[in-house]
Amino acid sequence: MNTRKKLIAPSILSADFSRLRDEISAVDQGNCDLIHVDVMDGHFVPNLTIGPPVIRWIRKATKLPLDVHLMIEEPIRSLKEFREAGSDWITIHVEACRDVRKTIAEVRALGAKSGISLRPKTDLSLVEPYLSLVDLVLIMTVEPGFGGQVFIPEMLAKVRTLRPRFDGLISVDGGINLETGRQAAQEGADVFVAGSAIFRERDRKAYISQLRQAIS
Ligand code: DX5
Ligand code: ZN
Repeated sequence: MNTRKKLIAPSILSADFSRLRDEISAVDQGNCDLIHVDVMDGHFVPNLTIGPPVIRWIRKATKLPLDVHLMIEEPIRSLKEFREAGSDWITIHVEACRDVRKTIAEVRALGAKSGISLRPKTDLSLVEPYLSLVDLVLIMTVEPGFGGQVFIPEMLAKVRTLRPRFDGLISVDGGINLETGRQAAQEGADVFVAGSAIFRERDRKAYISQLRQAIS
């Protein structure tokens, strides 16, 4: 049985960036476990977000671990900057690295928890060779690039297949709400990234506690 603690990671992509400190405080005080930060480069995904300078400010706004999701080509070029800015967990995409093994080794050498992620269309077999090297597998449950999309139910099978083969944390990211969170939890997911579902609520604390109940 999976007895690991379930972790809730609000994605600040859906927060009001003009009030970022308050937005982070609201979910921090709402007893979430991590802050999920989506980094996009306009190449790997058709959207552009933030980089190390903003992460440095986020780092000052909370003591919670920063779960940094790099949707960027060849992240190996900038891992050091992301780590120095305060990233605790660093997740790279298997599709975005020429040398995945070397990239993961670099994340570990920098002292961060290492994660690997895959797009919905990418077969699980592509991350299989790296399972013994990472702490976390982040299963994209929407096409990476934007918040507020609808959960792809077929991704539940990926969680189900991966669970018995992987001892680390399985994260689900995209379209997570009370219902899809509950379904992913039943398949054995550990980390629940939720952006729009949390930040569209006025009472983030109440929603986080409902989500915790749904996934427990
Ligand atoms: C999408 C990002 C997600 C996104 C989730 O590329 O990786 O973390 O913010 O947002 P919601 O929960 O709104 O689908
Ligand atoms: Zn993400």
